[in-house]
Amino acid sequence: MSAERKDDHVRLAVEQQHGHSGHNQFDDVSFVHHALAGVDRSDVSLATSFAGVEWQVPLYINAMTGGSEMTGAINRDLAIAARETGVPIATGSVSPYFKNPDTAETFSVMRRENPDGFIMANINATTSVDNARRAIDLVRADALQIHLNTIQETVMPEGDRSFSSWGRRIEEIAAAVGVPVVVKEVGFGLSRETVALLEKSGVAVADVGGSGGTNFARIENGRRELADYAFLDGWGQSTPACLLDAGGAGIPLLASGGVRDPLDVVRSLALGAVAAGASGPFLRTVVDDGVEALVAQLSTWLDQIAALMTALGARTPAEMASKDVLVHGALRSFCDDRGVA
Ligand code: FNR
Repeated sequence: MSAERKDDHVRLAVEQQHGHSGHNQFDDVSFVHHALAGVDRSDVSLATSFAGVEWQVPLYINAMTGGSEMTGAINRDLAIAARETGVPIATGSVSPYFKNPDTAETFSVMRRENPDGFIMANINATTSVDNARRAIDLVRADALQIHLNTIQETVMPEGDRSFSSWGRRIEEIAAAVGVPVVVKEVGFGLSRETVALLEKSGVAVADVGGSGGTNFARIENGRRELADYAFLDGWGQSTPACLLDAGGAGIPLLASGGVRDPLDVVRSLALGAVAAGASGPFLRTVVDDGVEALVAQLSTWLDQIAALMTALGARTPAEMASKDVLVHGALRSFCDDRGVA
């Protein structure tokens, strides 16, 4: 069942990428153009650091898959592309390995193919501290991601319905493991209240994982035969909304969910993120066109992120946070409703 679910997720996520309208709330963020603000490309560094972590680039391949033969092959290709481009990467949820140790290889292949890269292991918020350690050991992870997915579980036919212990478990894991803990949503967003709770729990970094890209309410709906939850299609906050909402949080923010191109990465940095990640867009490339196409896509993104920073006059990702942005439309209304200046 679990292996079949992992294959379903990949198939339905790629279908969503094919059908995506292209529009999301990142379009409500634009830069004020200052024609004399530019710097020299040779002075621009993409390196970003946060919570004791150093990345050479402000871009990462976010959590997706593992646990079946097909998804193990995808993980191998994602890891090769990460190695070739120096882009940090996350495993998909390691839960299948806890249930069936025979699936170990579908995750550990990522470390074998990418021996020196930055790898995050991904678990859910019901994982025991012992299993959190096993997940880290499996890929010799540099950081641990814990995903929050109440809405996905709600729509998933075989989903979890007990959420009250998640906060306590996150606190236990963050205190016990020796690597930075990143807590992420899977596409419905983190509110500023949630980010504040995470900070108190000892979590190092919050990945806002907002809406606007891969939609797990729709994916799980696609796996249901009866009583579908189509009315949850628009649930949650978009990634730029989350960044604005949680701006000034005491812990660093990562931006993911609906990041479509290098401009969305640079917009995320301008809204205060230390880096931006994507899943669906990279999955589509590797499934449709193969690993070399993904290497080319990641290289192009990195080159264009640097080009945009050069024109905007940001020598580092951190300098992007002081650039002039305008917020329009539904995103502006969200800010008004939430009292965001
Ligand atoms: C995901 N995502 C995900 N997240 C997570 O924390 N653990 C997981 O196991 C998975 N599995 C998974 C499978 C597939 C096929 C996709 C496409 C995505 C969610 C992912 O990390 C991310 O939060 C969302 O996909 C939103 O980002 P994009 O796709 O809009 O860039």
